[in-house]
Amino acid sequence: MAAEAKSSEPQLHVHASKDELSTAVGEHVSKSAIAAVAARGTFSVALSGGSLPKLLAKGLLAAYKQLTPEELKEHCSKWHVFFADERIVELTASDSNFKTCQDEFLAKLPIPRDNVYTIDPSLAPVACAAAYEATLKRVLGDEGEMDMALLGMGPDGHTCSLFPGHALLQETKLLVASIEDSPKPPPQRVTLTFPVLHKARQVCFVAAGGSKAENLPKVLKGELPAGKARSASGATHWFVDKDAAAKL
Ligand code: 6PG
Repeated sequence: MAAEAKSSEPQLHVHASKDELSTAVGEHVSKSAIAAVAARGTFSVALSGGSLPKLLAKGLLAAYKQLTPEELKEHCSKWHVFFADERIVELTASDSNFKTCQDEFLAKLPIPRDNVYTIDPSLAPVACAAAYEATLKRVLGDEGEMDMALLGMGPDGHTCSLFPGHALLQETKLLVASIEDSPKPPPQRVTLTFPVLHKARQVCFVAAGGSKAENLPKVLKGELPAGKARSASGATHWFVDKDAAAKL
C-alpha cells in the first residue's frame, strides 16, 4: 500500500482525470491520517495553497463519509493543521491560504479551530515567520517533525514559497522563513524551509494540469525546489493527472 511505503525516491501516481486524482489523494490523506492517529495519537499536516485545497477537498470529504459523525469528530480532534506557506494578508482575504483551505474543507470537518495554526498577518514578515516557527516548535517539538507536508508545485518548479534561484533555498537553520520578493503574488509570505520539509514523515505532492508538464520530469529526478522537497526518512509521493504527466 503506497501510504506505508518508505523510500527517498519519489513514488508517482498518475490519474486519468482531476476527479480521479482528487479521489486518490483524499483516500491517501485520510488513510495516512488514521494511521498517524493510531500510531502516535495525532495527525500533523502542513497544507499548501494554490490549486491544492480544491483538489484535496472533494476526495477527502468523500473518503471521510465512511466514518460515523462520532468517529469523524473523535478523529478530527487529533488533527493539527499548519500552512506550508502563507501569504501575509488578512485571514479573511481571498488570497489567504488559510481562508482557501477553510472554505474548501477545513470548516466542513470537525477540526477544532484551535488546532488550525494561522499566521499573525499584523506582524512584519521576519517577525511573522519567527512567531510561526515558535508555534510550530511548541506543537511539534524543536525539529518541527510533522506527519505530512501536503504540497503543490508551480509551473516553474517552486513549492511552498521556495522559488528557483532564490536565496531561501540555501536556508539551513530556520524552519519557517519570510520572503518579501515572491515572484508569485502577493510578494510578502512566510514559508516552510527545506530543513523542516526533509523532516516530515511523509511528503505528498499534488499537481494537475498541462502547465506542470514541462518541469515534472526534472522534479522527479530531484531538480528544482519541488524536486528537493523530499522526506529524508519516509515516503515522498507525487499524485498527478495525465495532463501534468504528459512529458514523462
Ligand atoms: C501559494 C502556494 C504555492 C502553490 C504553488 C502551486 O501560496 O502560492 O502555497 O506554493 O502550492 O504555487 O500552485 P498551483 O497548484 O495553483 O499551481
